[in-house]
Amino acid sequence: MASGGKFKPKILGIICNWCCYGGADLCGVSRFQYPPYIRIIRVMCSARVDLAHILLAFSTGQDAMFIGGCHLDDCHYITNGNYDALSVVTIAKKLLGHVGVNPDRLRLEWVSAGEGIRFANIMNDFGRQVTELGPLGSSEGIDRAVLVSRIEEVQKLVPYIKLVQTERLRAPRSLRVSGEQEQRYHEFFNSPEVRKIFKEAIFDKLAIGQIVSLLKEGPLSTADIASKVGLTPSEVAKHLNASSRQRLVRYDSESKRYAIA
Ligand code: FES
Repeated sequence: MASGGKFKPKILGIICNWCCYGGADLCGVSRFQYPPYIRIIRVMCSARVDLAHILLAFSTGQDAMFIGGCHLDDCHYITNGNYDALSVVTIAKKLLGHVGVNPDRLRLEWVSAGEGIRFANIMNDFGRQVTELGPLGSSEGIDRAVLVSRIEEVQKLVPYIKLVQTERLRAPRSLRVSGEQEQRYHEFFNSPEVRKIFKEAIFDKLAIGQIVSLLKEGPLSTADIASKVGLTPSEVAKHLNASSRQRLVRYDSESKRYAIA
């Protein structure tokens, strides 16, 4: 949707107390302007931002989300929490993209307490970018309610995804190379091994959850299911076969539709 000068996005910002909030404070004291529709929540460290928070924001009316922390290696906690934020945001972007949400609606930045003008510039740039994207669903070409229902399916899997993250998606410390961390994290999360883990351990499980939820509302054909979950009919057929073997769904040969077993 073109902005037309009317659309004001809802953007939630979660920023860390020690650096990014300092930058926001300096921005205000210096009277730099940024869009009032970006609402800020302060947390002690960007590591406090959970995957569940991000999904909740998108499923409850936000058009975009901003997360801000200290520059990498400047986190005020010995655990270097902003590396956790980097992992969580990278994983969240993959999940959002998989269900059809434009990942550019989620932005992570590092801002120090002395970078008031930079904070304002980032907020203005993000506000402009999201305004151009339009309400959640418009740039994606998917009805907002459909997108929200897909995000809600991901929300159901959050405890499981965290388990997968802990056991199989931990970015090694060797990636923390000064000046190259973000590039190396990007490469790690896009490596063939990690893509395989996402597909087999998360996306396939998510697809089966989506299909079962849909069939709880009534029998559907493979094509109907495919159009609702955003997968190809052959992908849906593969998941239906797996679900049939697990006795989650059954095929009704009379109506030629699938139903809950
Ligand atoms: Fe700012 Fe940890 S205290 S990112």
